[in-house]
Amino acid sequence: MNEFTQSQLLTRVTESNRPNGSPRAQKIVARIVGDLFRAIDDLDITPDEFWVGVDWLSRLGASGQGGLITAGLGFDRLLDIRSDEADERAGRLAGTPRAIEGPLYIAGAPLSKYETRVDEAGDAKRGETMVMEGRVLDLNGKPVAGAIVDVWHANELGRYSHFDPDQAEYALRRRIETDAQGRYRFRSFLPPGYAIPPNSPTAEIFTAIGRHGNRPAHIHFLVAAPGLRTLTTQVNVPGDSFIDDDFAFATRDGLILKLEPNTSPKGYESLGVNEPFTRVPFDFVMQPAASEDESAPEARLARAVG
Ligand code: DHB
Ligand code: FE
Repeated sequence: MNEFTQSQLLTRVTESNRPNGSPRAQKIVARIVGDLFRAIDDLDITPDEFWVGVDWLSRLGASGQGGLITAGLGFDRLLDIRSDEADERAGRLAGTPRAIEGPLYIAGAPLSKYETRVDEAGDAKRGETMVMEGRVLDLNGKPVAGAIVDVWHANELGRYSHFDPDQAEYALRRRIETDAQGRYRFRSFLPPGYAIPPNSPTAEIFTAIGRHGNRPAHIHFLVAAPGLRTLTTQVNVPGDSFIDDDFAFATRDGLILKLEPNTSPKGYESLGVNEPFTRVPFDFVMQPAASEDESAPEARLARAVG
């Protein structure tokens, strides 16, 4: 028989799976399709509304902005909350808190030992000059030599290199290897906040639901070292008006920086700092890795191919 009720159709859709498919994929697809069938029925979604949604999804995919939507709808923070809950159950909720990676990480940034400029030496002033510095430590407070601190942040217009055609490759993206005392330091400028691209499929849906697309000023990190669990996090510049109203829900109380303005430049000459600047102290405290996978240097790429 080929006439179906809604629930017969759903059964038919899921039962048309063949045993050579992945059971996990079958289960996930069946659940999501079932939830959407129910949403269409409960909310009486019209054919026009449905096809507008499909067209939006196609344009979202073509724009490469899938990752922006997931952050803005809370999924990235949801995954962090679930990881924190799993850690708590396992008695390993410790060290620097994780915070969402966001969709704008690029692997392979230039690598320096101990210190570097993240902005460019020839740049005119692009914002408040800062030097962020500290150590990478394990849970016992022991410094971790040879850890890789991968840092990336937005430019003075709130845009990220690679995704912004106006910036050089790897602009405002660097990796720093900690020295024998586990120390790192870098010079840059305090970045401003970020807003989702206007006139994009992402902006469209946020306008439709009456939400803004602003993130407070933040700096991203991916910290990796052998034997330690790779840490993906981001820190916030205090004082931003969106700090408690982040479109990506990623602000965390333990990750708001304490700025030290008017720090003397003495000892910072190698970074080209010759006048009082804003010092930003921050130590990264890392958990031991429970498996080799957890200390993979580029966690997200490893996950993507795994
Ligand atoms: C988004 C942008 C970011 O800079 C970020 O860190 C996280 C998410 C976004 O546009 O979704
Ligand atoms: Fe960001």
